[in-house]
Amino acid sequence: LVCVPCVSVVVVLKLLVVTVATKETDGFKRFFRSAKHLNYTVKVLGEGEKWKSGDYMSAPGGGQKVRLLKAALEEMTDGDKIILFIDSYDVVFASGPKELLKKFQQARHKVVFSSESLIWPDRHLEDKHPHVVEGNRFLGSGGFIGYLPNIKEMVSDWTGEDNDSDQLFFTKIYIDPVKRVRCKSTNITLDSKCRLFQNLHGALDEVVLKFEDGRVRARNVLYDTLPVVIHGNGPTKLQINYLGNYIPNTWTFEMGCTVCHKDLHPLAALESEYPLVAIGIFIQQPTPFVGVFFERLLKLQYPKHRLKLFISNQVTGEHWIHQDHGSLYQEVKLVGPEEEMDPPASRNLGVDMCRKDKHCDYFFLLDIDVVLENENTLQILIQQNLPIVAPMITRVGRLWSNFWGALSADGYYARSEDYVDIVQGRRVGVWNVPYVSSVFLVKASLLRAELSDYELFTSTLLDPDMAYCHNVRSKVIFMYVTNMQTFGRILSTENYQMSHLHNDLWQIFENPVDWQKRYIHENYTLIMKDKLIETPCPDVYWFPIFSDVACDHIVEEMEHFGRWSGGNTTDARIQGGYENVPTIDIHMNQINFEKEWQKFLLEYIAPITEKMYPGYYTKAQFELAFVVRYKPDEQPSLRPHHDASTFTINVALNQVGRDYQGGGCRFLRYDCSVDAPRKGWTLLHPGRLTHYHEGLPTTAGVRYIAVSFVDP
Ligand SMILES: *[C@@H]1O[C@H](CO)[C@@H](O)[C@H](O)[C@H]1NC(C)=O
Ligand SMILES: *[C@@H]1O[C@H](CO)[C@@H](O)[C@H](O)[C@H]1NC(C)=O
Ligand SMILES: *[C@@H]1O[C@H](CO)[C@@H](O)[C@H](O)[C@H]1NC(C)=O
Ligand SMILES: *[C@@H]1O[C@H](CO)[C@@H](O)[C@H](O)[C@H]1NC(C)=O
Ligand SMILES: *[C@@H]1O[C@H](CO)[C@@H](O)[C@H](O)[C@H]1NC(C)=O
Repeated sequence: LVCVPCVSVVVVLKLLVVTVATKETDGFKRFFRSAKHLNYTVKVLGEGEKWKSGDYMSAPGGGQKVRLLKAALEEMTDGDKIILFIDSYDVVFASGPKELLKKFQQARHKVVFSSESLIWPDRHLEDKHPHVVEGNRFLGSGGFIGYLPNIKEMVSDWTGEDNDSDQLFFTKIYIDPVKRVRCKSTNITLDSKCRLFQNLHGALDEVVLKFEDGRVRARNVLYDTLPVVIHGNGPTKLQINYLGNYIPNTWTFEMGCTVCHKDLHPLAALESEYPLVAIGIFIQQPTPFVGVFFERLLKLQYPKHRLKLFISNQVTGEHWIHQDHGSLYQEVKLVGPEEEMDPPASRNLGVDMCRKDKHCDYFFLLDIDVVLENENTLQILIQQNLPIVAPMITRVGRLWSNFWGALSADGYYARSEDYVDIVQGRRVGVWNVPYVSSVFLVKASLLRAELSDYELFTSTLLDPDMAYCHNVRSKVIFMYVTNMQTFGRILSTENYQMSHLHNDLWQIFENPVDWQKRYIHENYTLIMKDKLIETPCPDVYWFPIFSDVACDHIVEEMEHFGRWSGGNTTDARIQGGYENVPTIDIHMNQINFEKEWQKFLLEYIAPITEKMYPGYYTKAQFELAFVVRYKPDEQPSLRPHHDASTFTINVALNQVGRDYQGGGCRFLRYDCSVDAPRKGWTLLHPGRLTHYHEGLPTTAGVRYIAVSFVDP
């Protein structure tokens, strides 16, 4: 992007980056990574010292930085040395030393300060500032570059307290005309057009990301410059996090790069001793597919004896983990609805279980509506070796995800420029974001240090997850979301009714993907490709449609409802000669299942019908759909009849040989029987003219079939 032939290696070697960092914060680590990547030499001052200069929101401070700089420079003697003094917690490098030095030389001053459009901390000094032709007029002390002797002299007058303002100190030197120009030591200028330094405070609208040739660079569009040092000063911490996602190797994003992150937790270390993870599972509202959730948890690729579960259920008593499964884990702790714990309280308690257990290495928050399909999720997240990291999960068919790319001024959701690209997987990486929810991994060491406040999830104003993220952000701990793999999705819990025995059967509209996984036969999607459709009799097709679970749930639901009858409506439509033929049945509409059943017919039966009977199109209208029960001592068989339908489906809901003897269906015109029904398979045959048929006797046990007369 920038070719710098005139800055020699020797000059580059003269450059020393000096920064003050009393703690190795996440921001410092990011700064250091970017400096190392670009081959800057960095000297860190103040390590382990207590920070006494206030934080960025409060009163002016920063004097401590000047004191430390002054002391450090006194020990340096090489007069050719060029010092770049910058903040580090909220700074990233966008380019290397050569470009920086070239731009410094072009500035033709001994010391160059970063510039700001806003004056701080003393507004009264405004008139004293020299006017600039174009660009920012005010000095920013968060970054400056200059020759060692000049800087030495500039700070030699420092006698301030650690909590005095460094910015005010340097501003006073800058606005003093004598010091600024005549005195040789302080030949100062400002980088008014952000060629070297970009302070983001007051300048967010000026800075955009420019993608070119597989690289990204922050550009100041107001002055058309490419700053080398980007500083998220003042209240722009989140914006520097956002830009930091794109600055070369400060984080993992590199266009076209899949494994970019150099600080992974070594896999080998993981295998020799798996960290102990406390998984907090939170059931806060009626949620579908809870049984499936715990089955899936069992498949997580992680040694169970290194997992502890904390399950908080605020809904009903029935959602407990299966006893046989529970004993596999190192420990299972349950908190039920009788404890009347609200969502923040239960999250606080779950987190504290890990915090207080000195063996606990990670806390993994997992809400019950998360469908974590990637069995390696836990290992992948641990390997990221990050303070807080979430696997990106999305909601099918929506632009929803469990992270926010940006925050609005009042701390709520704002869509970042890259949000859609990340959610849809066009940009892949590990992203520093201001908010994660529903599922994430936290290092326990954080819970015992910066996040030791018990009430992390509590707030009078904010939802628990927002309160938590607010607290994390206020400690300047970074949260990440990764979309380097696919992890899963979140369920819709809207409209979930608990009034049935198997409520999940009703989820075909709200959660169609999960409904299909649970209830449609695993080979259904293969039946066309693998020619799985059999033709046992002329124009009678036979194929797998329901899973075992679907069959069991439908039967159990009907038996639970229990009002079996020789349904009169059915009689009128099943005609043997001139008489009606009654069955013992329960209709789908009796259990309020007709809309769901029609959706099922449309989604899963209509496409097959249209393939097998070409030229016939169906909207899957039906008046009759019911489950029939055959029993030797009740109704063992059904005598020959026509169906009042264009076509009929007839699904076997249980297993011959195991659940009953006999049964089957005979088509009289062809003298052809299907006498070994397969559970979950359906017959599909024409209704009212050619396929006169009878139900063969069930001789023992109980047989169930689901029947629909389609397009009557
Ligand atoms: C940093 O230095 C190494 C070794 O001298 C070199 O291979 C690498 O290309 C340099 N990196 C950059 C970004 O200049
Ligand atoms: C700065 O520190 C000094 C001594 O440590 C103290 O007396 C003074 O009140 C502090 N000033 C502010 C504004 O905190
Ligand atoms: C000091 O700055 C002025 C511009 O303000 C410049 O013309 C001059 O060359 C500088 N002096 C030295 C000694 O670098
Ligand atoms: C699905 O098809 C495969 C291969 O034919 C078979 O092994 C498997 O048992 C089938 N699944 C079920 C549930 O019938
Ligand atoms: C069915 O019809 C019979 C008489 O034909 C009647 O006694 C019975 O109540 C009807 N059942 C229902 C559920 O309507």
